[in-house]
Amino acid sequence: MLVIRDLHKTYRQAAEPTLRGLSLEFPDHCIAGLLGPNGAGKTTTISIICGLVRADSGSVQVLGLDSRTHPMLIKKKIGVVPQSIALYPTLSARENLEYIGRLYRIPRSSLHDKIDRYLHAFGLDKNAHKAIRHYSGGMRRRANIIASLLHDPELLILDEPTAGVDVQSRNMILDFLRDYHRQGHSVLYTSHLLEEAQQLCEEVAIIDHGALVVQGNPAALMQEHDCRSLEQVFLHVTGWGVRD
Ligand SMILES: Nc1ncnc2c1ncn2[C@@H]1O[C@H](COP(=O)(O)OP(=O)(O)O)[C@@H](O)[C@H]1O
Ligand SMILES: [Mg+2]
Repeated sequence: MLVIRDLHKTYRQAAEPTLRGLSLEFPDHCIAGLLGPNGAGKTTTISIICGLVRADSGSVQVLGLDSRTHPMLIKKKIGVVPQSIALYPTLSARENLEYIGRLYRIPRSSLHDKIDRYLHAFGLDKNAHKAIRHYSGGMRRRANIIASLLHDPELLILDEPTAGVDVQSRNMILDFLRDYHRQGHSVLYTSHLLEEAQQLCEEVAIIDHGALVVQGNPAALMQEHDCRSLEQVFLHVTGWGVRD
């Protein structure tokens, strides 16, 4: 579902490169984690995958399509959930979702069905008519996820979807990602929570300082490095010292 080769990126006026030859790959139809500490380059990598940021060099293939030659086709096949909430605060969840559905030109009848189904699945049906600005952080995050699902993306990409939400919202989001994957879709999510990813992901790539540290199946990585957790694998490979 994703092949990244030798990606380099230095932001304008930045003192240091953000991505330094990042390479990784995830197989088709998997639930994958792009993991790493804060500042590792996760959001930058996702922004390049989605075509929001341009890499200085290197290549990205999404669902078998080259990001340079097929950016529009890739956009149609993926759903992206940014870490910040991309909804109109004064509109209700339902109004936001109806508006987004119309932008995607989803027929009215199936759109309403879909919105009802997802609002229910994410526990938002009772608050569907409340303005987003009156939602809690976890509710906003859940509504933000629905917004990226309305066009049935083959690959769902989420940037730290569980950061800063309470445990109930977190479990609901993780259960949903498992279900979505079971229905035959691919999922790529970023997190700095290695323990969470160890539970959720079939494949992980741990990055640090803009380059790959290790990648593979979590259980296989733990066995290979003789560690009891993914976090131990990461510390084993990168060292225990604080960075700043
Ligand atoms: N627009 C930008 N301009 C300059 N530097 C940036 C920009 N976005 C990110 N960076 C820097 O790139 C590094 C990696 O950032 P990011 O990709 O957001 O990492 P992560 O998502 O893993 O926390 C950080 O040091 C950050 O300060
Ligand atoms: Mg980030």
